[in-house]
Amino acid sequence: MNILMVGAEANPYVKVGGLGDVVYSLSKALAQQGESVAIVLPYYLSVKEKHHAKMTHVGEVFVHLSWRTHTAQLYQSQLDGITYYWVDLPYYFERPNIYGYHDEHERWAAFVHAIHWMLPVVGFQPDIIHLHDWPAGMLPVVIKTMDGRNAFYKNIKYVLTIHSPAFHGEFPPYLVEDFYNLPMSLYEEGPLRFRDQASTLKAAIEYTDHITTVSPTHAKELLTYEGSFGLNDLLYPIQHKLTGILNGIDTDEWDPLKDPHIPYPIREKTITEDKQKNKEALFKQLGLEHPEFPLLGLVSRLTFQKGIGLILDNIDHFVHLGAKFVILGSGEGELEHRLREYAYKYPKAVKFIQGYNNPLAHQIYASSDFFLMPSLFEPCGIAQMIAMRYGTLPIVRETGGLIDTVKGYAHFKEDATGFSFQHYTGDSLGWAMNQAIEIYSIKDKLTQLQRNAYQQKNDWKKASGLYLKVDKSHV
Ligand code: GLC
Repeated sequence: MNILMVGAEANPYVKVGGLGDVVYSLSKALAQQGESVAIVLPYYLSVKEKHHAKMTHVGEVFVHLSWRTHTAQLYQSQLDGITYYWVDLPYYFERPNIYGYHDEHERWAAFVHAIHWMLPVVGFQPDIIHLHDWPAGMLPVVIKTMDGRNAFYKNIKYVLTIHSPAFHGEFPPYLVEDFYNLPMSLYEEGPLRFRDQASTLKAAIEYTDHITTVSPTHAKELLTYEGSFGLNDLLYPIQHKLTGILNGIDTDEWDPLKDPHIPYPIREKTITEDKQKNKEALFKQLGLEHPEFPLLGLVSRLTFQKGIGLILDNIDHFVHLGAKFVILGSGEGELEHRLREYAYKYPKAVKFIQGYNNPLAHQIYASSDFFLMPSLFEPCGIAQMIAMRYGTLPIVRETGGLIDTVKGYAHFKEDATGFSFQHYTGDSLGWAMNQAIEIYSIKDKLTQLQRNAYQQKNDWKKASGLYLKVDKSHV
């Protein structure tokens, strides 16, 4: 099968969040199973600056958008059995960030048109176009409306994966005509209309043959109002087309036995001692004191979704009990500011490293005793799976994929792989953190739980097989 992945991020070139990991790892796993997989992405400034010398030019297409016409040069690169196609629209994508511009609707509309015209030019005829989230959600509408009977396009099937239901890709209705050259009836009569705006995510929901999301629990949450950010009304009637498939992690990159970024490999047999040695090294490197006390780690985008506020509510109390915190991430200014304040207040107990630093991320996963993930919502979550692979016990809120991957001590006792709590309050997180601190002082119990976590199998083999089953049921 020819499978084309379409999203805004894919490792190792472009990553803002977990989406970048998934688009890449899933593609790699499908390629390993013999499928022909391509990923198409905008040729972002950061990619152009770093990789241009290794790109092959494979053609050009014209993009007409309202009164503007752009020429998009097309490039190709090859990695891990995946073909990456790059759409060079400098006017829209030669910018420092991936998202967040005032002309967001226009940028992704241009990308969608370019993909439509690109496929015959580069000679990739997909059996499946697999869309990820909202950015290119209009692609099936554009292709089916304009080229639905054209032999090249007519047998393509579409799958949408919802990674985040919070972003609907809303845009003003008149742009249906202006940017997409589509009849306004598609808005007026319904399929593109969501809460009196046009929506690229709704478009994808209406026009794809199958919808998946990134965990079984989140598939159920998408049928509730709170869990779906209002998508439930759309998804409920078509729930037979909705499947929850748990993401995996890239077990080549995250390998506790062969990780080049950590000073001591972590073996199951000597797990507690190996982790402690890594922790001592990290404390030295960061200027923290007393590695005999528990270390709580966090590697995350600092956004409202991730429940950072609940952690802030607990820092004072747990620092007074002796706990240490290492936090790596960037995001909303207010959250960064408050974390910086705590780091300043407790220089020997709290470290906040703003930004992303891959070797340090590896060291935090390996060295922490506990990993904080009190998310408000979490369709899957990847960090908790990485943490467990290094024997680090996640402390999670019981939501989405966190329910499917972490067995909380309060429910599972000896079989637990971490700690969990239900209510989105600082007190509830504190309650779970207290359990963690208690276990920390009972060494055999700690070791038992670390081993349970370490043994979890969350690679991509199973997940990619399930995706293939979805794809094959449609072609
Ligand atoms: C989004 C979700 C996260 C998921 C990731 C990859 O970032 O918020 O839960 O793990 O996508 O699917």
